[in-house]
Parts: sequence; C-alpha cells; structure tokens
Amino acid sequence: MQNHHAPYPALRARRLRATPALRALVRESRLDASDFIWPLFVQEGKDRSTDIPSMPGVARLSPDLVVKAAREAVSLGIPAICIFPYVKQELKTEDCADAWSPDNLVNRTIRAVKQAVPEIAVMTDVALDPYNINGHDGYVVDGRIVNDETVAALVRMAVAQAESGADIIGPSDMMDGRIGAIRAGLEGAGFHDTVIMSYAAKFSSAFYGPFRDAVGAAGALAGDKNTYQMDPANSDEAIRQVGRDLAEGADMVMIKPGMPYLDICRRVKDSFAAPTFAYQVSGEYAMLSAAIQNGWLDGNKVMLESLLGFKRAGCDGILTYFAPAAARLLRG
Ligand code: PBG
Repeated sequence: MQNHHAPYPALRARRLRATPALRALVRESRLDASDFIWPLFVQEGKDRSTDIPSMPGVARLSPDLVVKAAREAVSLGIPAICIFPYVKQELKTEDCADAWSPDNLVNRTIRAVKQAVPEIAVMTDVALDPYNINGHDGYVVDGRIVNDETVAALVRMAVAQAESGADIIGPSDMMDGRIGAIRAGLEGAGFHDTVIMSYAAKFSSAFYGPFRDAVGAAGALAGDKNTYQMDPANSDEAIRQVGRDLAEGADMVMIKPGMPYLDICRRVKDSFAAPTFAYQVSGEYAMLSAAIQNGWLDGNKVMLESLLGFKRAGCDGILTYFAPAAARLLRG
C-alpha cells in the first residue's frame, strides 16, 4: 500500500484519538452479542450442574438447565448455542453406536431446546470422541484412526442430529471427505436447509486440555490427534483445507483454536470471503480465567479485547465460553 498520508505535523495520528466521539467515528471493528456462539456441556439428570475445575464459571448442565441457558442466550441477544455431551462411561464403546442414537443425550437436549426456545440456533459437534472408548474422533483399528469407516458413522450421527432439530452441524473430527459425505447424507434425508459449519482448520493443539476434562474424553490415547488434526506450524495447509470444505458444501468455516491462530483467520477471510468463525477454546478460556482470578488481568477488559481481536482479524463470529458474560457487558 502506498503511503499517501501527509508527514508530521500535517498528520497527527492522535487527532483522531482525542475524544470518545472521534474514536467511535473511526472505529473499524465492533463486537456485539450477535457475534457469539455459546458452547454448553450437557450431562444427564435434572436441575443438575457440575462445575468444571479447569474452566472457572463453566459447568456441565442437565438438559433442563441447557434449556434455561438457551432462554438466557436469547434474552442476551446471543443467536446460537453449541452442545457438547458428557457421555456416561458405560455408553462409550468401540463402535460408538450411541453417537447416532435418536435418544442420546445430545439429541434429547436438542429437541428440548428447540421445543422451548425455537428462536435459538442450535449447533452440534460431529466427532466420535465423546462416544469412543479410545477418546479419539475416529474409529481406531489396529492402533490407527481409520478414515472412511469413520466418515460413514459421522454421516449417521449428523443426520440423527438434523432429525432432532439441529440448525447447524459442526463436524470437528478432521477426517477427509466428511463434509461432502455429510452434505450428501443431509440432502438425501431431506434436510436441505441444515447448515454445516465445518471445523475446517482445526489444529492439533494443547489448548483443548480443559475441554477433554469437561466431556470426559481424556482417555489414554486422546492426547495425540496428530494424524488427523493439523500441525500448528502450517498456514498454507489451512487454506487448502478450508477451500476443500467449502467446495464439499460447508456453509461456514471455523478456525480452531482462536487467539494463537488469528493469522489463519485473516488469511481465510481474505481468501474465500465466506462466513468465518473462530473457536476461542477451553484452554484459552482457562488461561485468561486463571489470570483474572488472580487479579493479574482486568477480567472485563481482557475478555472484550480478546474477542474484539477476532473481529479485527476478519471473523464474523466467535465460539466462546465468555459469551454470556461478554453479552451482558455489551448489552448492559
Ligand atoms: C472434539 C472437540 C474438541 C473440541 C471441540 N470438539 C476437542 C478435541 O479435538 O480434542 C475442543 C473445544 C475446546 O477446547 O474448547 N472433536
């Protein structure tokens, strides 16, 4: 870009920073409650809430409390929630059959939410890890994560979620070909308007640690997802992944984790001009919360600053555990 600005003192950058009114006029990005998708952990029971120690302020909720949270989301102007299940140990199997059971915890919760709060958009996670005895996102055969068999299971899982009323299907498994297969499965089952938000550039990250505690998927093998999730060193590969997922029928794409990958967000937005989301993941939430709890950071300020960064980087929205707190600040 050519520098067409006058030199100092004709240009004084501070002129436009001098008052709140001038700063508001030239502000380039804005954060709003409508930017947020609120991830929620669901567990069996009634009126039951279990704190997650590594995620202060976040709890696993029984389905009735997820419904309550969905109502709260609507009242705060948050357009969507995303549901992750805490699956009982006895339901975790090698074939992961509970993943597509119409009456599994997720599908029952989707129906309860859509019945009570039809205006909220409900997003789901498509991956086998909460249902898998191995904690992996795909089937494990002879110690290897097999792709095509996993994709077939993911299609069944996604269609069951659409049948339960899910608005947005979120494949987070990183198998090859799953977006095209899920899109075909949804079309074939008559779900022409079910949205797919693909976890397109999902990196093999240490920032998912607290999430794996939250959903009870911290199995012995689950630490290493390097054969399907992306190498944190790669950027061009993220562009190829996103391009492929859009070509296969994704309506929106996601980059995950968020804060260490803002460069990827910007490249993706500039390359494809598609609806682009970032997931500020459990470890990012834990890291900020720990410093906030210690009084080392100003909670409200860092929360909003961290979220605004996603908008500046080109994201249309953010999945964040801060959603209700941030929405309260922004709308209050
Ligand atoms: C599972 C999944 C993960 C997250 C969302 N879906 C964990 C993983 O890949 O191990 C992480 C979310 C978070 O850390 O907040 N497919």
